[in-house]
Formats: sequence, C-alpha cells, structure tokens
Amino acid sequence: MYITAVAVWSDSSSNMVIIAIIVIILKLYYSNNIELISPIHDKNDRTFPEKKRNNQSKFLFRNLFVLRSQSFTVMYIATGLELEKSLNIALETGYRFIDTAIGYNNEPIIGKVLNEWISAGKVTRDELFILTKLPCYGNRPEDVDKFIKQSLHDLQLDYIDMYLVHLPIGLFKNGKSEYSEMELDKSTDHLKIWKKMEEQVHNGRTKSIGLSNFNIKQTQRIIDNCKIRPDSLQNENHLYFQSPDVVEFCKHNGIILISYSSLGMKAFREAAGLSWNNKQLPEMLENDVLVKIAKKHSKTPAQVLLRFINQKGISVIPKSTCPRRIMENFQIFDFKLNTEDMDALRNQDDGEAGRIVRFQMIKNIEDHPEYPF
Ligand SMILES: NC(=O)c1ccc[n+]([C@@H]2O[C@H](COP(=O)([O-])OP(=O)(O)OC[C@H]3O[C@@H](n4cnc5c(N)ncnc54)[C@H](OP(=O)(O)O)[C@@H]3O)[C@@H](O)[C@H]2O)c1
Repeated sequence: MYITAVAVWSDSSSNMVIIAIIVIILKLYYSNNIELISPIHDKNDRTFPEKKRNNQSKFLFRNLFVLRSQSFTVMYIATGLELEKSLNIALETGYRFIDTAIGYNNEPIIGKVLNEWISAGKVTRDELFILTKLPCYGNRPEDVDKFIKQSLHDLQLDYIDMYLVHLPIGLFKNGKSEYSEMELDKSTDHLKIWKKMEEQVHNGRTKSIGLSNFNIKQTQRIIDNCKIRPDSLQNENHLYFQSPDVVEFCKHNGIILISYSSLGMKAFREAAGLSWNNKQLPEMLENDVLVKIAKKHSKTPAQVLLRFINQKGISVIPKSTCPRRIMENFQIFDFKLNTEDMDALRNQDDGEAGRIVRFQMIKNIEDHPEYPF
C-alpha cells in the first residue's frame, strides 16, 4: 500500500532513487532484518509490525486493554452487562488488545461483543489482538487441545493472537469451581505442555504462545528445550515490585514482558484480603513521589504508573470497568517521563517485599514442585 502511494507521487529520477530506498527498507522490514518491534504500544502507531520467531510463531503488537468480569475468587464481580458496556466503551476508545483467560469466566461475553463489532464492520478481526490462557487445571499435555478449543468457541474466533500457560503449577479440577477446592497435580511437566502449545501454533489455533507467572529458571528451561520460543511472559510488575532481573532477562531473550497489577489491583487486593509482603507500603496510587510527578505532568497517578512501566518497554493491561478510567488509562502516550522522574520511580521498588500475588487461594500451592515464587 505504501509503495503504491509513493509511486503515484513521484515522477522524477531523483524521486525514483527515493522510491528504491523506500522499497529496500520495506523489504528489510518485512524480512525482519531490521528490528522494528518495540514493546511500547503507541495508539498512534497503526503499522502493526509483525515479527517471525523461528519462522513459525508471529507476534503482533496492538494497543493495550484488559477486562474481566470475574476474578479468581468471586469477590470482584462485574455483571455481564457491566462488562459488555465497558468493553464497548473500550473498543470505542480505541483499545484493541484484550487480555482474558478461561479463569476469568468472561470469554463468552467478550466473544459476543467482538462478534457484534466485527459483524457491524466496526472492526476487522486482524485489527484485534486477543490474548487468552490455558488454565492451571488444564496443565497437562492431553488437556491443551480441549481448553484452547473451548476458548475459541466462547470467544467466537477462528484463531487466538496469543495463548499463554497461565500458571506453572497444575491442578486437578475434579468438578470443582473454586480453586481452593481443587487438588494439586504435582506431575506438571512444562516441556510436555510446551510441546502441545507449539502444536497450537502449527495447527493455526493461535498465532503466538507465551507464559505467565513463570520464574526465570522455568522460562529459561523452556527456551533451552523448545522449537518455538515464548513470545511473552505475563507477570506481576509494578512500582513496588519492579523485578529488574526479569525485565533484563526478557529483553535479553526477546520476550515481551506484560505487566499485571500495574495499578496495584486495589479493589481486588482489598476484596481478596491480599497485601504487599511489606504491609507498611503506602497505597500505590497515593505514593508521594508518584503524586508529585503526576502533578508536574498534569496527569493522574494511574497514568504515570502506566507510562512508567510502558516507558521501560513493558506492556501494560490495566483493568477497569469505569468509563472515565478506561479513557484515562488510554491517554499515556502524549507525555514522557524524564530521566529524573524515571529514577525517582525506580527508587520506589521494594523488591520481593512489594509482591502482592502469590496465588494462595490455591490450597497448599507452595508444596507444588513448580511453585514459582
Ligand atoms: N496472569 C495472571 O496471573 C494475572 C493475574 C492478575 C491479573 N491479571 C491480568 O491483569 C489485569 C489487570 O488487573 P489487576 O487485577 O492486575 O489490577 P490493576 O490493573 O492493577 O488495577 C485494577 C484496579 O484499579 C482500578 N483502576 C483502573 N484504572 C484506574 C485509574 N485510572 N485510576 C484509579 N484506579 C483505577 C480498577 O477499578 P475500576 O475497574 O473501578 O476502574 C481496579 O480496582 C487483569 O484484568 C488480568 O487480565 C493477570
């Protein structure tokens, strides 16, 4: 498309040289000789670069967005209608990247809304980036097909853009719906599961595959034994838990780090009785250093938190069902934090003491041989 536009515009020999240069650049771009992928998601960037990994898995970048109607525990419920409304607002705002999971019990609603948008011609499938996850009660090679097919059915899609192994530990569901009632499956074999994940790329059910809540050692073992490398790692990452070692590891291995709990998951944390390991930490959105920087930029603390993470090359998936905040969280590309701001925010890291999520609603999770934390 770009080449046609240039050809119409040019008629002199010097312009022909320019065309030739542009064509060479485009060729290099599409043959992946130039690394154009940046984990910074810019809503104004409509080029949607693609990168082939191992000549098999393709990774597309999109804008960021996440919604869920229900958390792991049922304390954080948004009704179907609330989710439907907020997803519509998010799509109208311009969000195109949806993070979900079987465990969030919202794939059927997301599927319904996406189907309405696609049928009405308001968006095309290839403009969307849909990420979903293999539940930990499906962490056996023989279960992967079944769960990805279920997600495809519920999301009303022919393919998923990115499919993640949600947790490194396995559970037996045994007909239970509460994680607290499920039994640990201590036989979890990451390499065998990953092989089945790779098959999903080959059979076209997903464009790319990745991991979530895996530690560096577990991720490295997959890298060392895979045919398709993980495209992404979705882990807790925020102001108080910045995991610079994981950030560096992902950068080094060309893995996109996706941050969850970027805003400190306040409502869920309180509802589920969770806290940072260091209980003395101030509420994240009220952190003095953060509030001061936000005021300086005439932005909200939430926008600065998201921008801070995003500016470090990490993808963010803030959750909101509030129309004003959905729009607010999208406005993070029109300002930049300077070195001083970035350093001040980096200094708020509390390491392991800043971690919130340990999945302790899963009974005896620490006894699982693959418990990652
Ligand atoms: N892979 C995993 O294991 C895993 C684990 C946890 C979460 N996740 C993913 O990460 C997503 C992010 O959710 P999270 O639970 O980590 O929480 P989060 O995004 O850190 O925070 C969400 C909370 O912040 C509020 N909020 C949103 N925007 C705000 C703003 N601009 N100002 C003030 N408050 C704001 C939300 O309330 P309102 O809705 O009322 O705005 C909600 O209470 C989840 O939806 C899920 O997709 C993944």
